[in-house]
Amino acid sequence: MCANVLAAVAWPYANGPRHIGHVSGFGVPSDVFARYMRMAGHRVLMVSGTDEHGTAIQVKADQEGLIARETADKYHGIIARDLQGLGLTYDLYTRTTTQNHREVVQEVFRTLYRNGYVVKQTQMGAISPSTGRTLPDRFIEGTCPHCGYDGARGDQCDNCGRQLDPIDLVNPRSRINGETPEFRENEHFFLDLPALADELSRWLGTRTDWRPNVLAFSHNLLKELRPRAITRDLDWGVPIPVEGWEGNDMKRIYVWFDAVIGYLSASIEWAKRSGNPDAWKDFWHDPAATSYYFMGKDNIVFHSVIWPGILLGANGEGSHGGEASEVLGTLNLPTEIVSSEFLTMKGSKVASSRGASIFVGDFLREFGPDALRYYIAVAGPENQDTDFTWEEFVRRINFELANEWGNLVNRSISMAHKNNGAVPAAGELHEVDRELLAASSGAFETVGDLLAHCKFKAAITEAMRVVGLANKYLSDTEPWKLKDDPARRDTVLHVALQVVQDANTLLTPFLPHAAQKVHEALGGTGVWAAMPELVEVDEDGSTYPVLTGDYTQQQATWVSTPIEAGRPLAKPSPLFSKLDEKLAQTGPEWAPIQA
Ligand code: MF3
Ligand code: ZN
Repeated sequence: MCANVLAAVAWPYANGPRHIGHVSGFGVPSDVFARYMRMAGHRVLMVSGTDEHGTAIQVKADQEGLIARETADKYHGIIARDLQGLGLTYDLYTRTTTQNHREVVQEVFRTLYRNGYVVKQTQMGAISPSTGRTLPDRFIEGTCPHCGYDGARGDQCDNCGRQLDPIDLVNPRSRINGETPEFRENEHFFLDLPALADELSRWLGTRTDWRPNVLAFSHNLLKELRPRAITRDLDWGVPIPVEGWEGNDMKRIYVWFDAVIGYLSASIEWAKRSGNPDAWKDFWHDPAATSYYFMGKDNIVFHSVIWPGILLGANGEGSHGGEASEVLGTLNLPTEIVSSEFLTMKGSKVASSRGASIFVGDFLREFGPDALRYYIAVAGPENQDTDFTWEEFVRRINFELANEWGNLVNRSISMAHKNNGAVPAAGELHEVDRELLAASSGAFETVGDLLAHCKFKAAITEAMRVVGLANKYLSDTEPWKLKDDPARRDTVLHVALQVVQDANTLLTPFLPHAAQKVHEALGGTGVWAAMPELVEVDEDGSTYPVLTGDYTQQQATWVSTPIEAGRPLAKPSPLFSKLDEKLAQTGPEWAPIQA
């Protein structure tokens, strides 16, 4: 059964290059999922972009002596290239500073306003006494009034997960310069979450198979819903589409309100670019369509409360009733919020002068994409905070990727190349042969089921189990000793190559670059696993890059296909090079481990 599946990927901030922790939350999991879904025959739309508005970007621009737009341009380019380098198959990776995005955000805002879910209220706003500017919520730090955690931010406490307003913090201070903010009365628009609370609870009650900690966390958030400010004192962002406010240069829509609407605006932009402007509706209106949202856990509240709240209000489905926008129609709520925990980097003890970060770009240049994808899938923070260490990285790459998978591919193809120059034909199968073949063809169902449920760690472990079985099979059958029984040797090598091909298919969502190479090493031609492209598009006379791609032409499908006997095989080159063991102790030059 083919379904329409939206893979909605969290939008990285344009305030710096992304580190491996970021892509462990939104990047790798979403692409593994999207690739699997396409291979399983579904129609997938994977969208995201750079999150360019808001104070985080404004602050970064101030630090760099640039205007916000320049900083956004710079990091949008860097981030898009990193994501391409990782092989993330976005149908569209765009940005929030496009005209299309602005229009969609304003349409959603206007609809909510019309339906009564956006209301004007005064609040106490924080001002920096030294600059006279609004101090953004995220840049105020203090003690959480609920749990006493000292590093709580003005928008939320990462310790207990509660939503906060800066004024709630005990001992508030600016994270920019440490000064104590002043609070002044200020008019803003608020999202009336209490009016959406019943519908939100009803909806969340129907979501049962999310990761347990994400679901529990989300239920908890619904317990104390307050109206939430969705505008800010700032001159960088989407203008407020209400009469008398549009021209106000010091008020803008809150960055989180605009960013989550990006999933919808990017879908609409994708449809326009693809030449069928209505195509987005298949993912947003069709009641049978599903949508999966990928992110790190600090994003949960925005996706499991604010975004569904916005959608319900815009649909006219809260306690004030109302009507859906004529242009946007009645929109689907998320099927699942797929949130990871944090990938910490304590054990790697990166020198703090380097910002304590392991950047994606550096990582890709030195180790290539699949090493990082593998590490994140197998050892990433899927269900709990997990520390990245170089030691574990070296171990996983050398002993699992290179020794287990690389070696299996290499020795099976080398032997067949040397003995037959082609894929040998199988003779009569023995019990061991049948067992291995059954295990590898059976894995399509088990691994597929795990992937469909976003259980990536279990899925890759199952796929690697097949690799382990195949290695054991070769050690048990010892084809290198079968010189005098070429018929049996051919059968063994045929079976081994069949399982290499199956395992390669099972690993394709995780290791697409390696999968393409294995496909070619097995004598295949053409595109096995498609890759994203960076394309320059223009708007208002200037150009910027987006990521896109045609992922429908690739050959990879989620089935075991019989390997063709007689297909010529060349001598394979090693799939993964081993890392120098020293790396475990020292780290790379660009992120050295501190003594
Ligand atoms: N920019 C945010 C972050 O990096 C994520 C935004 S996700 C979206 O944490 F929902 F707003 F799109
Ligand atoms: Zn707290």
